Amino acid sequence: MNDQRSPIDRARLAELTGRELGRFADEHPVSAELFSRGQRSLIGGVPMPWMMRWAGGFPPFAARAAGARLTDVDGHEYVDLCLGDTGAMTGHGPPAVLAAVADQGQRGITTMLPTEDAIWVAEELGRRFGVAHWLFTLSATDANRAALRIARQITGRPKVLVFSYCYHGSVDETFAVRGPGGGTVSREGNVGPPADPAQTTVAVEFNDTSQLEAALADRSVACVLAEPAMTNMGIILPDPGYHQALREMTRATGTLLIIDETHTLSAGPGGCTAAWGLEPDMVTAGKAIGSGVASGALGVSGDAVGQMLAQADADYEDTGGVGGTLAGNALSLAAMRATLATVLTAGAYEQMIPLAGRFRRGIEDVIGEAGLGWHVTQLGCRAEYRFEPEPPRNGTQASQAADSALERYFHLHAMNRGVLITPFHNMALMSPVTTGADVDRHTEAFRAAVADLLGRD
Ligand SMILES: Cc1ncc(COP(=O)(O)O)c(C=O)c1O
Repeated sequence: MNDQRSPIDRARLAELTGRELGRFADEHPVSAELFSRGQRSLIGGVPMPWMMRWAGGFPPFAARAAGARLTDVDGHEYVDLCLGDTGAMTGHGPPAVLAAVADQGQRGITTMLPTEDAIWVAEELGRRFGVAHWLFTLSATDANRAALRIARQITGRPKVLVFSYCYHGSVDETFAVRGPGGGTVSREGNVGPPADPAQTTVAVEFNDTSQLEAALADRSVACVLAEPAMTNMGIILPDPGYHQALREMTRATGTLLIIDETHTLSAGPGGCTAAWGLEPDMVTAGKAIGSGVASGALGVSGDAVGQMLAQADADYEDTGGVGGTLAGNALSLAAMRATLATVLTAGAYEQMIPLAGRFRRGIEDVIGEAGLGWHVTQLGCRAEYRFEPEPPRNGTQASQAADSALERYFHLHAMNRGVLITPFHNMALMSPVTTGADVDRHTEAFRAAVADLLGRD
């Protein structure tokens, strides 16, 4: 909690949050009723535990979502800047993807046979990310799990290096942080870890080249699994030169570099890999690449693929631990092809990225007018505001600066005024069908929330 750094009257914040909670409950009787009914059959009243996190105490139940709008069962229409926490960065149900999915559905959903779409998608991802060989999964989590197995297999090394407070999906090795003494410890809240993370993982702070160099020195690390910019504790950008150092150190120690572009695909059609000229050995992605139809992808560079397939003792064809029955299915590949061909195009980013700039400038103006020492960070079509003056340089700093009471107030205030942002930190995402008016609606809601908080008209 950040009480000392922020000039916020905490009693007023609590009172306003209470007022907004009351309004939310009053205006969402149907969602409240469904949530109550769901308690009897769903764990926590929701189909997936993260959905408990919405700021209203219960989530609005969705009736329909199309484009950049979502309507709940109580009839409220929202400007959706959450976009399924990136799964719907394409906008909900892009018509070309719906048509491709309907068409493929008529011709077979899953057959355990390849389709031509798989080759098209692999070629297109190869063109975007500069990594030639691909396999497909149903989620980014699965792509990351496969990447870690392959990296350990081909290097013969046991450990994985991640950044403290990273998130790469529910991947066991990644729920680790650097402890105060420099050792690797379990992240708080880690549910039933299969092993002490110190056995599987080395966690270092993002943007710290000394820690990185020391951690790679004994060559026990198979791979670094990295978001090019951290996005799951708010956006944390790399220092100038950090990626060059990361690549040089991983190459010098024979450590594979896996870049997870699941969220940083916000930076452009080839994510940060293309935007910043990175040279990963593997790339992982998911969520938006199929417009939210279950999809994930793992790209492996030619060198690593050669090593992978040369090892006769690794069973990739059956129960070696990579793959899944529905992975690479025809429906998923049809959705990915339509998404890449028609939705997440270079032209679309030319609209999406300036909208995130508009979001950033709008919030910066409100912050400046109110004299609040807060800041906004943008990464392509993704932007976030934070409640302290300087951007954090690593996950631990970001974690220590988090202010859940303020977050909740702003999320709830916006939701009550018809705007959704992600229920985790303060992320807003622009789709190809988001408009300037949508962004301005959020800015006005944010302005009103600040005025209420500071007791100004
Ligand atoms: C960077 C990153 N990688 C992977 C994942 C996992 O995605 P999924 O939950 O769709 O498997 C996430 C989810 O938020 C993520 O942020």
